[in-house]
Amino acid sequence: MIFETHAHYDDDRFNDDREQLVPFMPEKGIGRIINVGASISSTKTTLALAEKYDFIYAAVGVHPSDIADLNEETYCWLKEQTAREKTVAVGEIGLDYYWDKEPEVQERQRYWFRRQLELAKEAGLPVIIHSRDAAADTMEIMKQAHAKEIPGVIHCYSYSKEMAMEFVKMGYYIGVGGVVTFKNAKKLKETVEALPLERILLETDCPYMAPEPHRGERNDSSYIPFVEAKIAELKGCTVEEVERVTEENARRLFSKVR
Ligand code: NI
Repeated sequence: MIFETHAHYDDDRFNDDREQLVPFMPEKGIGRIINVGASISSTKTTLALAEKYDFIYAAVGVHPSDIADLNEETYCWLKEQTAREKTVAVGEIGLDYYWDKEPEVQERQRYWFRRQLELAKEAGLPVIIHSRDAAADTMEIMKQAHAKEIPGVIHCYSYSKEMAMEFVKMGYYIGVGGVVTFKNAKKLKETVEALPLERILLETDCPYMAPEPHRGERNDSSYIPFVEAKIAELKGCTVEEVERVTEENARRLFSKVR
């Protein structure tokens, strides 16, 4: 089965057909899905999806672009959610300097990234990290937080292959999605070639990042085979091998998933 490690089915772009789309994922070979929270409200809708569908699990957390949501009260609420049976990760958390250039905002991002790493450590859950235009600070904070003791994935990986190997040395996985099929994605293709398959996770980040030949359309997990095919080509192995090994990887990392 395909283990989809990063989806946002609570997104508004699924409002018109969510009920016609999501329940049929297992028949399309998508056996497990982690729906990922990115704000307090999307963490709530993520938890609701996980309650509704047995094959959907939840990651709870606040994305760097939504940290205005966080204060001691909402942090406490997040902490309570980590104890729920279907909560399998803290995420997505991290740094995004692409969208936020102001130094004070970036400082607040770093603060809440550290706090949410602590949250994961206390809860004994892995983390799903979003990091854009902030490679050095992400690595620095992870080292300070002793991230070697907090397993996780760098989702929608966009940095160099050298940096990827640094994350792998810390025990991390690299999330690979639609971008790997893009013509101009030279860096990510090199990264996939260099990485052991045992460190790669499949993801969509849907509704975003649809692979070729659907680039620009709304994405969903049923497009993952296009990503698998590209990874198989780059690694010189079969699609079946990509699917089997990435599922094993996801089950190893997200060990609360049944
Ligand atoms: Ni995402």
